Amino acid sequence: MISKLFRSNPTYRKYLVQLLGKFTNKLDKNIVTNMYHMIKQNEPDEKIVNFIQKNRIGMEELKSEPRASRISNVLFQFLKKDLKPNIGAYLDIGCNNGLITVELGKKLNLKSSQIYGIDVEDFSGQKIIPVGGFVFSSYDGYNIPYTDDYFDLVTCLMTLHHIKHIDIILSEIKRVTKKHGLVLVKEHNAYSEEIDWLIFLKHLFYDVMDYNITYEEFIKTYFQKCYSKNQLVELFKKYGFELVKLSGKKFLNRYHYSNPTQTFYALFTKN
Ligand SMILES: C[S@@+](CC[C@H](N)C(=O)[O-])C[C@H]1O[C@@H](n2cnc3c(N)ncnc32)[C@H](O)[C@@H]1O
Repeated sequence: MISKLFRSNPTYRKYLVQLLGKFTNKLDKNIVTNMYHMIKQNEPDEKIVNFIQKNRIGMEELKSEPRASRISNVLFQFLKKDLKPNIGAYLDIGCNNGLITVELGKKLNLKSSQIYGIDVEDFSGQKIIPVGGFVFSSYDGYNIPYTDDYFDLVTCLMTLHHIKHIDIILSEIKRVTKKHGLVLVKEHNAYSEEIDWLIFLKHLFYDVMDYNITYEEFIKTYFQKCYSKNQLVELFKKYGFELVKLSGKKFLNRYHYSNPTQTFYALFTKN
């Protein structure tokens, strides 16, 4: 699939080069030459990925504070006009270690006791180590461990596409959100099969590089069900949410433009 997508379209090729460039030492010409040779030769994904993993040197720290600060800034800018003045409780579903959760909570002027995050026990074989400064709970991935109408704001960032039964989680989000509360979603816009594949490959590269799991382990455990922007909006409407706004082109930064998987933000309210 890597080779096929690489040849299929210049935008996909550019994106794959960006992704691959993150995981290889760009200065080591031998590694890069060998990698592109393998792609040209139509080698299977497993062989290409194992080669990159073996030769990886440094990579961007995915769970870094600068990244969390950058992302929470974007979220806050997107949200702020629609926020009500007094947020009692904020929940982040799929919070991972909570860096983004806490950063956004601080921008909302919340105390640690008002910032909540939940995630599954382990994902891609990785145990989550919460950063602190918020109330973390691990849960079964479906039954949100809070009472009805508890949260004024719920975020679910780059997480919905990892959840098998979206119907269950959407009813749960609805249950725990207060009437007129806000739900902010960040997702990939998977509007074609090729984009779905690019998203899959992105996760494959990140997981084998960042978590150092093998290609076989990844294939066994990984789950993805992506939606297009429109599909996701329709799903939320079906579960009783009203769309407040979607991120438009003006909102996207340069990285989003060069990224064909087109991450987007959608804000909903519970009626
Ligand atoms: C791509 S990470 C996103 C992490 C963080 N929200 C961010 O935007 O950087 C996806 C997260 O979804 C979590 N996850 C997977 N299944 C989940 C579920 N059923 N409920 C909540 N979180 C889940 C994973 O553990 C992981 O932390």
